[in-house]
Amino acid sequence: MAENQNRSQHGMWSSGTLFVLAAVGSAVGLGNIWKFPYITGDNGGGAFLLVYLICICLIGFPVMMAEIMLGREGRMSPINSLLKLARESNRSSKWSWIGWAGTVGGIIILSFYAVVAGWITYYIFRLFSGEFVNTDAEVVSSAFDLFLKDPWQVFLWFTIFMAVTVFVVARGVNKGLELAIRICMPLIFVLLIVLLVYGVAQGGFWEGFKFMFQVDFSKLKLNGLLVAMGHAFFTLSIGMGAIMAYGAYMPQGESLKSAVWIIVVVDTVVALVAGLAIFSIVFADGLSPAQGPGLLFVTVPLAFGDLPLGSIFGGLFFLFVAFAAFTSAISLTEPALAYFVEKYNVSRVVVAITIGFITWVLGIGSVFSFNLLSGFTPVFGWTIFDFFDKITQWFFLPLGGLAIAILVGYFLPKDRVWSALEINSSWAQIIWKALICVIAPVSIAVVFVLTIVQHFVS
Ligand code: TRP
Repeated sequence: MAENQNRSQHGMWSSGTLFVLAAVGSAVGLGNIWKFPYITGDNGGGAFLLVYLICICLIGFPVMMAEIMLGREGRMSPINSLLKLARESNRSSKWSWIGWAGTVGGIIILSFYAVVAGWITYYIFRLFSGEFVNTDAEVVSSAFDLFLKDPWQVFLWFTIFMAVTVFVVARGVNKGLELAIRICMPLIFVLLIVLLVYGVAQGGFWEGFKFMFQVDFSKLKLNGLLVAMGHAFFTLSIGMGAIMAYGAYMPQGESLKSAVWIIVVVDTVVALVAGLAIFSIVFADGLSPAQGPGLLFVTVPLAFGDLPLGSIFGGLFFLFVAFAAFTSAISLTEPALAYFVEKYNVSRVVVAITIGFITWVLGIGSVFSFNLLSGFTPVFGWTIFDFFDKITQWFFLPLGGLAIAILVGYFLPKDRVWSALEINSSWAQIIWKALICVIAPVSIAVVFVLTIVQHFVS
């Protein structure tokens, strides 16, 4: 019985290393390679990057520790783990609402995430075909625009990506993940370095570097703060229970602190290298850094098109990025999956197919946001894609993170938290308290209120 309490009914990661790999797989994805460069470009570079890095350190780090801990202490789906911990600490069962918000949030994120992952999947074949060998920026850019304007093409690749995700998720999170991540992450990194070297050779590196690291606050609008903070949550996969669900399968006795260090460092390094590579290409080819979601799909094909064996390496690049997207997508389904398996006692296969179907239907709006429904912008002029992207990144994730910080900081017994996190020395306890009780929640609240007031009220 005692042993059962330390195991999850859904299975366990066979080792601490596998937990770290899975969490890195969840963290590193389109957020790092597709989204980070383009939002950094849209928000003017340096100052935005600085705010983002501060959010990672002061908010991301403690919230991730807290979230994984909640999962590992609860050993169930986020909803039921929170319920269990709240009861054990004599707190209101309403804390499980964090789990609900996250479970729904994960499905919403996946619905548009899989659309972009579908673009990536299409580009695997597009690059292998040699279409972009020795072309120029205009051709690559209009090729991307034309693709997005073709609703059925986008729909097809989105559907393919969803189908593969459901297939793998149905078989259980453990299988195959380790291999995919161990092989895929280093290879992505190698190809990013190739792109970086290309940028250096083409003479764009220095300007790209300055764009990213020269801090000029006059370029950062207030809303950029919220974008930076929201992205810190998004890229680390925190604030909605995904990492909590993975934490539930983390073996006892593995150090949570070192796991979080590794996840945060790897995630940040991948984003920075991707950004440097892409901005080097941007400046080498005289492109605009602020061209939005198409940035990756213009720069990377252009660079590989110029390199020897570029169509092969370019195809492989998109293949590895698709894998990275895939290991992230899997984590987005886990909170809902675990919950419905617990609740209805049905098999993972049935639940996976159901969740996959709901996500697929929800994603259709995002598929058509770039073509058939591009003029349908009832809320704040946002397309359906923008709407899902923004409500999750600006609202669900920061508010989920805020609630997690408050729960762990103020409502769980201190001794339990400290022993779970192995925070023993008194100075470590002071730092932890400062971070989780004050710095993280106050900064989230301040950024949130400031930007929301400015955005929606003025
Ligand atoms: N972190 C992933 C990325 O950067 C996306 C992701 C996976 C995610 N799971 C999540 C985002 C949970 C928020 C919450 O691509």
